[in-house]
Amino acid sequence: MATRTPPWPEAADSMVVDADPQAVPARSVSGAPRPTAPTLAAVVRETIKATPVLGELASTAARRYRVRHFPGSSAFWEQHYAAGRDSGPGSFGHLAVFKAGVIADICRERNITSVIEWGCGDGNQLSKLTVPRYLGMDVSRTAIEHCVRRFAGDPDKSFAWYNPSFFLDAAGFFCADLALSLDVIFHLVEDVTFTTYMRRLFRSARRHVLIYSSDVEGLRYSEPHVRDRKFSAWVESNEPDWELTKTIRNPYPFTGVEEAGSFSDFFFYTRVPAREPTAD
Ligand SMILES: C[S@@+](CC[C@H](N)C(=O)[O-])C[C@H]1O[C@@H](n2cnc3c(N)ncnc32)[C@H](O)[C@@H]1O
Repeated sequence: MATRTPPWPEAADSMVVDADPQAVPARSVSGAPRPTAPTLAAVVRETIKATPVLGELASTAARRYRVRHFPGSSAFWEQHYAAGRDSGPGSFGHLAVFKAGVIADICRERNITSVIEWGCGDGNQLSKLTVPRYLGMDVSRTAIEHCVRRFAGDPDKSFAWYNPSFFLDAAGFFCADLALSLDVIFHLVEDVTFTTYMRRLFRSARRHVLIYSSDVEGLRYSEPHVRDRKFSAWVESNEPDWELTKTIRNPYPFTGVEEAGSFSDFFFYTRVPAREPTAD
C-alpha cells in the first residue's frame, strides 16, 4: 500500500524514531505506519520534543492546524485510508483477538445467522472474525475497496460503500440478526453524524446490537477525529425497544499506549420482546 503525505502535519508528540529497519512498524491511534529510519524531519522533531517549551509549542501548533483543517469525519476517513493508513491499533494484535473472541462467542451462543457491521474499516479486524453471513459498510470508499479485494473469494462476505446522505432503507434490506459497531462511535464527531449512525445501527438489527466503544462524554480532546460520547444514554432515551443486557469489560484498559490498551468495552443490546397488549 503506497503511503502518501497526509494533508495535516503529524503532532510532534506522536512521532517515534526507530532505527531498526527490520522492526515491524508500530501503529499510532490514526493507524499511520511509523518511520523505520530516522529522517532529517524526524530528527528535527525529536530535538524540538526534547526541548520542553519548544516541544509543547510545536505540538499545540500541530494540533491547532489539524483542528482548523479537519475536513469532517467522513472525508477524514477517506483521506486517512487513501494516504495508506489502516483502521488503527484496535484492529491489530491482542486487542483485535479479544474483540474477535467476544463476537465469536456471541454468534455461537445466540445462534446468529447474519451480521451487518457499520464502519467495517479495511478488513484487518474482519480477517480475525468468525462470523456467519456478513455485510460490511463503511464511509470510506478506499476501505471498502480493500475489503472487496481482500475477501473476493469468500462467499459469505458482502460489502457496500456507505454514503450517509444518499442512503434510505425503509424497506429493510440492510438488516441482520446482529448489528456491529466496533471502535466507530467515538469517531462520529458531528452530532448529526452520530444520531444518523445510531439510528441506522439499531434499525438494521433484528435481534441484537453489539457496540465496542468508550461510553463517556469528552474523554479525549487531543485529536479532531475523536469525540467520546455517552452513547448508552442516547440509546436509553431514543431506542425504547432495546435493552442493555450485558457489558463486557476490555481486559486491556488504556494506560497511555494506544497499541497496548483501549478505552472501549463491549455493550450488548437485545430487542425487548414485543409487549403483550394488556386487558385494560
Ligand atoms: C477505527 S476504524 C474501526 C474499523 C473496524 N470496525 C475495526 O474495528 O477494526 C473506524 C471506522 O469507522 C468508519 N466510519 C467513520 N464514520 C462512519 C460513519 N458515519 N458510518 C460508517 N462508518 C464510519 C471509518 O471509515 C473507519 O473505517
